Amino acid sequence: MKESSNLLFDLVLFGGTGDLSMRKLLPALYQLYRTHPFHSSSRIIAVGRTAPSKEAFLHRVQDKLEQHLPEDSWDTVSWQQFAKHLNCISIEADKTESYRGLIPLLSEDRPRVFYFSTHSSLYGAIASSLGALGLITAEARVVLEKPIGRDLDTARQLSGQMSNYFTESQIYRIDHYLGKETVQNLLVLRFANPLFESLWNHHYIDHIQITISETIGVESRGEFYEETGALRDIVQNHLLQLLCILAMEPPPNIEPDRIRDEKLKVLYALQPLLGDGISRYVVRGQYTTGTINGKTCAGYIEEDGVAEHSTIETFVAMKVMIENMRWSGVPFYLRTGKRLPSRSCEIVVHFKEIPHWIFETPRGQLMSNQLVITLQPDESITLRLCGKRLGPGMDVRTVDLNLNPKSRGNKRSADAYERLLLDVIKGDQTLFVRQDELEQAWHWIDPILADWESTSSPPEYYSCGSWGPAGSTLLLAKDGRLWHEGASG
Ligand code: BG6
Repeated sequence: MKESSNLLFDLVLFGGTGDLSMRKLLPALYQLYRTHPFHSSSRIIAVGRTAPSKEAFLHRVQDKLEQHLPEDSWDTVSWQQFAKHLNCISIEADKTESYRGLIPLLSEDRPRVFYFSTHSSLYGAIASSLGALGLITAEARVVLEKPIGRDLDTARQLSGQMSNYFTESQIYRIDHYLGKETVQNLLVLRFANPLFESLWNHHYIDHIQITISETIGVESRGEFYEETGALRDIVQNHLLQLLCILAMEPPPNIEPDRIRDEKLKVLYALQPLLGDGISRYVVRGQYTTGTINGKTCAGYIEEDGVAEHSTIETFVAMKVMIENMRWSGVPFYLRTGKRLPSRSCEIVVHFKEIPHWIFETPRGQLMSNQLVITLQPDESITLRLCGKRLGPGMDVRTVDLNLNPKSRGNKRSADAYERLLLDVIKGDQTLFVRQDELEQAWHWIDPILADWESTSSPPEYYSCGSWGPAGSTLLLAKDGRLWHEGASG
């Protein structure tokens, strides 16, 4: 390939020596390098408060890549080439002078990406120093990691600070769940197939469940989690974004703003959870000591950086209603938690039962039709239907129709961050969140946060390795439903 067609950019990674950078961003950049070779002069500059020597930094990155990449992705030659693009410098976020080290490392002839992956309270100071030194060019872009702010007020303040230096078209609010292949496939499934689109409403859908479950605890991020909790960490962004993609109306085209307009309308239509509604429809849990896959795991309050009497939630389950013509009366049940029995992200669309049953097989023995969309650990889409059992008679059984994307070929699907970083370099905002979406999501979440912060009652406890507190099961049982067995089995 000609050098001129290779990816030309400078990427400055604030928080570049931190956990996210080492676990996700640098491995994603390495994968991107293998599929989209970089121009020889492209640079990735990791910024840390106290940066290690370049040699120590490279050593650490290599270690982490070997740890976090699938085995077949690692090769020494690619690593050596990729490493030539890496730099590491130290900057103190609130000292403009310390940013001068960046100047000789940046070129004018290319997109300049500033990736903010520090605590969001530092974003304003970083933007202001970059601005003061004239480093924000017309082709500059800024990527903001979530959670962006702690609530609506802080998100608005942050937006004000950013807009002093960047236009909306330069701001990329990242939610890496939108970069997952199956989420994009969901748009195609919904809007390219009349089969689904005609059934995608309250006439045919009984309810929808979305679960993001993790086996890991808060790991080394106890301090971060104490300030964040599962509602800010996962519900306000990943879960609400998935809900929007599932519930939105067909956009007139796939231009970024037309898709974002439709997602925003869903957020506007969410029934507010207020007063008694919060305790009735939202479950807040925290893990205690237990066992996962035969290994004993410590409870949340025993984790490093966590207060002894912390009431921070590591689990949330909620029932959400959308007040519009399409979804009236259809509950969306959302659930997320750490230290659950398995890592998975699954969306289950439960269709209504057929109005009149004519077969001998008792209907209760069969499942109603379901569309099961699994985002991880493996991507798959399964349509669960009724079919005839082979042989005499008219015995009905549940059959699975596999629409697994992997059966479309053996192509490796890009990691979410890999895909999104490429979009930023190319200047495509489709899979990024707009400021009005962000604000509306906080507007909806804020009353729940305020309620929990004002109460002295503890969260419901659940043992590591269980599917969350009893309240979560009860939330669905009250409606005569169960969590889907794939995720909860
Ligand atoms: C991040 C959260 O946004 O998503 C983490 O901050 C969580 O707490 C992670 O572990 C989960 O992402 P994934 O892609 O591994 O499901």
